[in-house]
Amino acid sequence: MCPGRSPSQPVPQPAPVTVRVPAKINLYLGVGGLRADRYHSLTTVYQAVSLYDDVTVAPAGRLVIEVQGEGAEPTDGTGTAPASSGRGADLVPRNSENLAARAARLMAKAAGARGGVRINLAKGIPVAGGMAGGSADGAATLVACAQMWGVELSPHRLQAMAAQLGSDVPFLLAGRTALGRGRGEQVAPVLSRGVYHWVFALDSEGLPTPAVYDELDRQRTARAQQSAPPPAGPDGVLAALRAGDVVALGKSLHNDLQAPAVRLRPHLERVLSAGRELGALGALVSGSGPTCAFLARDATDATRIAGALAGLGVCRTVRRAQGPVAGARVLV
Ligand code: C5P
Repeated sequence: MCPGRSPSQPVPQPAPVTVRVPAKINLYLGVGGLRADRYHSLTTVYQAVSLYDDVTVAPAGRLVIEVQGEGAEPTDGTGTAPASSGRGADLVPRNSENLAARAARLMAKAAGARGGVRINLAKGIPVAGGMAGGSADGAATLVACAQMWGVELSPHRLQAMAAQLGSDVPFLLAGRTALGRGRGEQVAPVLSRGVYHWVFALDSEGLPTPAVYDELDRQRTARAQQSAPPPAGPDGVLAALRAGDVVALGKSLHNDLQAPAVRLRPHLERVLSAGRELGALGALVSGSGPTCAFLARDATDATRIAGALAGLGVCRTVRRAQGPVAGARVLV
């Protein structure tokens, strides 16, 4: 019992905690072979960008997930997903399969905490858009629950818990710019100078990540007799970042998942061409897509490209962001 409190006084509940977490793009994504664990080995250069989810956790009797953001249906608090309109925040699962729920369970175990948790996800990161929105919520929930329950973990232990949740989760704890290896979960910071301005074209439907990897495998199997040159590797991207050279970065952006994503969503080729024609220094599908990312010369150029792209009607909506930015951090 706490000193100074009478037995009839209730045990104080921990205060709610809000964590802000960014989206990511892969400036370079080289996909290797399929491993025995069904993941592909990766070499990737991540950059965290200024599209954010705010994740708030609070003590509750059971697990409750609430989702706010574009396309969200009002939640009924039962953990069941409302009927989907096929896009946006209503696609986010409200049940125990949500990465945020899995993160809360993992942290509750480390904390020895009983009872549930209410998790509010205020979505600013495109859902199922190849920008790691679900992984971001997992990273943010780990940090928020650790703070709420007063769990002190070494950075190494926190990274290991994040890796258990998903390949991109460790990077979203760290943010900024990092080289990712393994299945993407082994991250090491890399030197990056300057601020990079991005325009993102969002699609009307999400693209499931496993389907894009499967399509890559299928394309590679079909091409097996013709030898395709291996990608140049991340050295060009890393050198451009070290020098703070936006033009060189635009030329060296690369994503092995782009061809399979375009194969599954052929109209993405039109979106990419539109951005290039508008003068973007680089254009690529973000991660497994379908979001397309355009690198602008500066902030003014990003505003111009975003406005012109929105006017062409080739995508559902357009967002601007900059990077690199910090990873998951406590707001209140
Ligand atoms: O790690 P995460 O759960 O985010 O991965 C989602 C899916 O993406 C995996 O189930 C797998 O199909 C695919 N994936 C992969 N290789 C990676 C990362 C993801 O095949 N390195």
